[in-house]
Amino acid sequence: MRTGTRLSIIGPGRVGRTLGWALARRGFQIVDVLGRDGQRTENAVAFIGSGRGCTRWDELSGEWDLLLVSVSDDALTEVAERIAHRFPSLQGKTALHTSGFHSSDVLRPLKDRGATIGSLHPLMTFSEPAVARERLSGIYYAVEGDPPAVAQAHRLVIALEGRAFSISPEQKPLYHAAAVLACGHVAALLETAFAVLDAIGLEPESARRAFDPLIRETIENVLREGGRRALTGPFARGDARVIAAHLAALADVDRDGEFANVYACLGRRALHLASLHPTRRAAIRAMLTSDATNLPR
Ligand SMILES: NC(=O)c1ccc[n+]([C@@H]2O[C@H](COP(=O)([O-])OP(=O)(O)OC[C@H]3O[C@@H](n4cnc5c(N)ncnc54)[C@H](OP(=O)(O)O)[C@@H]3O)[C@@H](O)[C@H]2O)c1
Repeated sequence: MRTGTRLSIIGPGRVGRTLGWALARRGFQIVDVLGRDGQRTENAVAFIGSGRGCTRWDELSGEWDLLLVSVSDDALTEVAERIAHRFPSLQGKTALHTSGFHSSDVLRPLKDRGATIGSLHPLMTFSEPAVARERLSGIYYAVEGDPPAVAQAHRLVIALEGRAFSISPEQKPLYHAAAVLACGHVAALLETAFAVLDAIGLEPESARRAFDPLIRETIENVLREGGRRALTGPFARGDARVIAAHLAALADVDRDGEFANVYACLGRRALHLASLHPTRRAAIRAMLTSDATNLPR
């Protein structure tokens, strides 16, 4: 993308700040940064290092070539309508949103005004922008939309030293569900393990430290050789009595059954990976299909 591309950002949250910061350092000229809250928006402008903060739609200038829409998924429809309402003509301009779930079609009101539209989803977790901005190099971006918008998105990915891949609009919900399983659900799963450890008096900080090598090694093994070879433990061995005892112990410390249900649900997936005798597999499967809250104690 030519240096000096004028970029405005709508939604200066985790993704907007991080990409804004990186693109400002790669020759993009940040024009407007529009958020809902004045202070948060000013903080975002300070973080990005350039641009003009605004909180009202009528403050948004039309002096941009590329609009990055990084609002929360549920706000995209309304925000697209507001942008279209603000600008009677968007001829020659491009708008990209960063949602993994929505297709570019959610920006159709902008297309109706003449813009080319696309989606550019960074396949990365942006928890803390000051950390995330240092980890952008080499990440993948799912891209779809109008051909000119896709071409813009590719140039942007190159500027960010990332890698782009195509996705069809219909694939996005499943693609995004997979990303949630690999990211947010992993966080939820690990926190469940730490909550279980809390029941035996291990503080979360100590638990994170003690489990660090185990977690990293597991993830590295899965990424290197796949889950089937990486699977170890009672499900890989078919230790049915151990699994039954785990379920009972988990149900004992959590009467709502959440811990045991998480264990049983993922246990069913682990059974798919294990090479077990069919009889043993069926016996374990029977334990895992029962409601974990009604296990015999
Ligand atoms: N975080 C990630 O790891 C990640 C990774 C890849 C893609 N994404 C995608 O990127 C997008 C943004 O995610 P995020 O995590 O950066 O969200 P975020 O940190 O919650 O930031 C969202 C931003 O949008 C603004 N916003 C929300 N509703 C709005 C509205 N109705 N009008 C104007 N602005 C509004 C928020 O303003 P306030 O500050 O006032 O709430 C905030 O600045 C989402 O589509 C998400 O799926 C996120």
